[in-house]
Amino acid sequence: NNYCLILAGGKGRRLWPCSREDRPKQFLDFFSTGRTLLQQTYDRMAGFIPSENIYISTNHIYHDLVREQLPELPEEHILSEPIFRNTAPSVAWATYRILHRADRDARLVVVPSDQAVFKEDVFKTDVINGLDFVGSHDCLLTMGVRPTRPEPGYGYIQTGEPSERDDVFKVKSFTEKPDRDFARMFMESGEFYWNTGLFLSNVNYLCECLKRIFPPVLRKLEASGAEYSMERELEFVRENFPSYPNLSIDYGILEHNENVYVMICDFGWADLGMWHSIYESMSKGEGDNVVIGSRVIADDSRNNIIKLPDDHMGIINGLDGYIVAEKGNVLLICKKEDSSALIRKYINEVQVK
Ligand code: GDD
Ligand code: MG
Repeated sequence: NNYCLILAGGKGRRLWPCSREDRPKQFLDFFSTGRTLLQQTYDRMAGFIPSENIYISTNHIYHDLVREQLPELPEEHILSEPIFRNTAPSVAWATYRILHRADRDARLVVVPSDQAVFKEDVFKTDVINGLDFVGSHDCLLTMGVRPTRPEPGYGYIQTGEPSERDDVFKVKSFTEKPDRDFARMFMESGEFYWNTGLFLSNVNYLCECLKRIFPPVLRKLEASGAEYSMERELEFVRENFPSYPNLSIDYGILEHNENVYVMICDFGWADLGMWHSIYESMSKGEGDNVVIGSRVIADDSRNNIIKLPDDHMGIINGLDGYIVAEKGNVLLICKKEDSSALIRKYINEVQVK
């Protein structure tokens, strides 16, 4: 039995000002394809996971956006978190739900909603193979792709011992968001892969791991002895979620687990979480500029990414390596390199979220 959890509760701040706290990136049709990133992720997964086994995890403030964008999804498949606690608690909740729904053989794939996949068939084959692997191995399986630049914004996975599959290795080390020098060393060594954020396990084993990470949470649930019901589960979450540690899957689950594997993948993966990663993933126009949507004249300008409201027009002259992004009452013109930290700083300064 294969299950899927789509993570869609982040604030998407690194793509500000186009991604706003009241409608972050996963709820935007960033590239005017007719489907938002969340919808695209759902479509991709519903291609091979039964739709009754797909869950969306988000913050309660985005509950209505998820309903609106995925009307076919039963409401109880939206796990609406009462407070921001990052992704490890999201996985714990979904694991608990699935354990109570399914036979003990359930296998889960956790999928972020801020990425593109260019080879859908390869993706599907890899995820199905990965689900088979975790069905017969008690382990956590990540999916890695070969780095193409020394990117400090991702997690890096170092491969170790081989497994019985050619494309799966034991993970020797996991480093979330290294500094640029380390990222360069990792890339040059050839032993390291980017963590795509996709993450698979069988639900039994995952539950054992989570009990070690969040001892009070799941044990308390089990010890309550009360018969399972959805109402009880929701009440428990409401009361206890705020006391969950604020931890990502990467720091909270992967970095501290001995039994992690990585599948080396090549399904045309691109992260869409930061301006420069979107820039890298897109085909470039004249002067290696990337223009999303509107009409822009780029004169004597190179290596820029520009996203204005579709009906606006832009003219830039003499600009090299910049983000030009406008939405609502904010226009941002900022160097592309290391923009994530700068943007965080500006959001805090102007207090326009
Ligand atoms: N439900 C829920 N609750 N979802 C969340 C929360 C939360 O509190 N916070 C973030 N998410 C969702 C985001 O919407 C996104 O789809 C996903 O979880 C990952 O969060 P990001 O904030 O985008 O993580 P990241 O990009 O910094 O890092 C992760 O992805 C990289 C690849 O894109 C890590 O897994 C890195 O190791 C990885 O390289
Ligand atoms: Mg991301």
